[in-house]
Amino acid sequence: MSDGADIKIAGNGPILVSGAFALTGEDGQPVTDLNPTIALCRCGLSANKPFCDGTHSSEGWTSA
Ligand code: FES
Repeated sequence: MSDGADIKIAGNGPILVSGAFALTGEDGQPVTDLNPTIALCRCGLSANKPFCDGTHSSEGWTSA
């Protein structure tokens, strides 16, 4: 744990970000109303990118 963002790679799942962080959208504007911990998709299958929507699990995606 640090004073800044805590970033964890979930096994066969998303990138979990918590702590002190800011997320900026592709339009350069801050993304607000975020949960204290966000899950960012790394499988490419989410219908709600950049966030994980759980599709990695239902599709059996693995990080290997
Ligand atoms: S990591 Fe969960 S949908 Fe991509």
